Amino acid sequence: MIKRYNFSPIIRTGAVVKELPYDSGSPEPFIQKDGCFLLDMNDNARVTRIYGLGETVRGINKRGWIYESWCTDDGIHTEDKRSLYGAHNFILIDGKERFGAFFDTPGRITFDLGYTDSDRIVITPENFALDLYIVTGDSLKAIVGEFRALIGRSYTPPLWAFGYGQSRWGYVTEKDIRECADKYRDAGIPLDMLYLDIDYMDSFKDFSVHPERFPDLKAFAAEMKEHGIRLIPIIDAAVKKQEGYGVYDEGHEKGYFCQDENGEDFVVGVWPGKSVLPDFLNPEAARWFGMQYKALTDLGIEGFWNDMNEPALFYSEKGLDHAIGKVKGLGDGSEFDSLRFFGVRDVLLKLQNNADDYRSFYHNAPEGRYNHCDVHNLYGYNMTKSAYDALCEIRDEPSLLFSRASYIGAHRYGGVWTGDNHAWWKHILQSLQQMPGMNMCGFLYSGSDIGGFAGNCTRDLLIRWMSFAVFTPLMRNHSAFGTRRQEAFSFGDTEVFRHIITLRYRLIPYLYGEFVKAVENDAMFFRPLAFDYEDDETAAQVEDQLMVGDSVMIAPVYVQNAAARHVYLPEKMTQIRMHEGDISTEELNKGWHYVDIPLGDVVFFTKSPIPLAKPSMNTSELDMEDVEYIG
Ligand code: GLC
Repeated sequence: MIKRYNFSPIIRTGAVVKELPYDSGSPEPFIQKDGCFLLDMNDNARVTRIYGLGETVRGINKRGWIYESWCTDDGIHTEDKRSLYGAHNFILIDGKERFGAFFDTPGRITFDLGYTDSDRIVITPENFALDLYIVTGDSLKAIVGEFRALIGRSYTPPLWAFGYGQSRWGYVTEKDIRECADKYRDAGIPLDMLYLDIDYMDSFKDFSVHPERFPDLKAFAAEMKEHGIRLIPIIDAAVKKQEGYGVYDEGHEKGYFCQDENGEDFVVGVWPGKSVLPDFLNPEAARWFGMQYKALTDLGIEGFWNDMNEPALFYSEKGLDHAIGKVKGLGDGSEFDSLRFFGVRDVLLKLQNNADDYRSFYHNAPEGRYNHCDVHNLYGYNMTKSAYDALCEIRDEPSLLFSRASYIGAHRYGGVWTGDNHAWWKHILQSLQQMPGMNMCGFLYSGSDIGGFAGNCTRDLLIRWMSFAVFTPLMRNHSAFGTRRQEAFSFGDTEVFRHIITLRYRLIPYLYGEFVKAVENDAMFFRPLAFDYEDDETAAQVEDQLMVGDSVMIAPVYVQNAAARHVYLPEKMTQIRMHEGDISTEELNKGWHYVDIPLGDVVFFTKSPIPLAKPSMNTSELDMEDVEYIG
């Protein structure tokens, strides 16, 4: 059952697809007081665990930390962070009472889940324009099902998007990409997608192609397709401000960019230098931007990743002028003491994603003009929606689409990746822990940069990361410019990677089948053990294992140099082991086991037999029907 409460006229977010009547009572079990929603967790063991909040740091059980929904471009995902790129305002309370709560508000909202007072939940919206939905049901799964039916069906990518993808910010030319494809093929490692990062563009201009680096992208895309590989270019939110660049000229003339209080285009700095921000909350502007993707689909492109759409701001023109003034002032001959040093340093550091800048521009939505801060969390969501709507119009086939920033609702239009993580062991675990939260909020097609985006990856880290990512719907290896190369062929011996990635392809009939089932049933593809074994207190404590679809449980290794780990089996299961390409099985009883998982072995567990396809080099070669059952 769902009850809806309203707390002042809401700015329509579009997150829900059902119009429910308002309940005039109080939003029990929350107490509404002083601009907050309060819940005493200790009142008769009312709350034991808190799930949800989508893409946030820390564990599967969110209790004990404070989170802030504010789509943020932050490349250091340490556990002290309160916000990442997504704003997913759904929590699921487990305890004496079980219920879900969705705070549908487009601006900032803070979830203090026992941080200030360990026994108290305090939820504080910055702006009280919100709808609150309280969802009840017989089980954790049933509550999620009710909620998901409220927010509408999740995006389903084409089958080929379940293949393996290689990406790197640093492939600059057609030759770089071709070399990468060749190396994968020579090593016999399956591959379906090669990603184009910003360097394919001409001066980082959206929808342009660099004339020397990719002299004939259409022919090149066709050449790659012959090998079963699709090219997936990045699209950034900001548009280069340059007269003579058609996208800028037209958008400017038609008033499609976000404007300052005087009605002038608000100028920010992102990859292309001075840029403007398409006003995705203006439906006409959104449609116009979406239709620009045609420039690339006309060249044979079938999928995109949308980036920098929090929106990320390196600086604003206004902020930069101020900072330059400060730095110039250094030459006045006076002493450069530590105070001045830190003063200047801070002026520069504060340029990026500055709160004053977010407060300085506006959107022309159908309901009126909004200050960006009041609707901040809807920006990336509407960028993805604009692309999805247009791609449905432009193409007959489903397209691959995923985004960095998101709000609940965006799950109907695309997937998400978890942004700029690090080549850190703890980020394997973090990725695992992010998945169920995102699934609750509808984001089923998701994954993290395998091997880590920032920092230098090592062979063992990549092997372990892949052994987990074999199960994530989006399986993409991506890394930053200047980092150590981390393709599956970059560490000498390629056999181990060939076996792991081949296993992924063999699992696609299971993974895709379970994914589609989860979409159609408004269910979660990844679930904490507690969701399937509600009466098992041990299962509820497990923070590093997940259920994947109906039959599989995973328990990956995420610790450096560990060759075994404890695994909890909530019931009797079959252990499946892939060792050098061979599959073996062993029955294991309910309870704790210390399982040997040497580097290169992929071990997982099944409740019932699952289909396993024959090995293939890409999804076009994959025979989804020719399967054997294991487990
Ligand atoms: C952002 C993205 C990253 C991309 C980089 C360059 O940091 O999150 O994936 O490689 O921009 O485009």
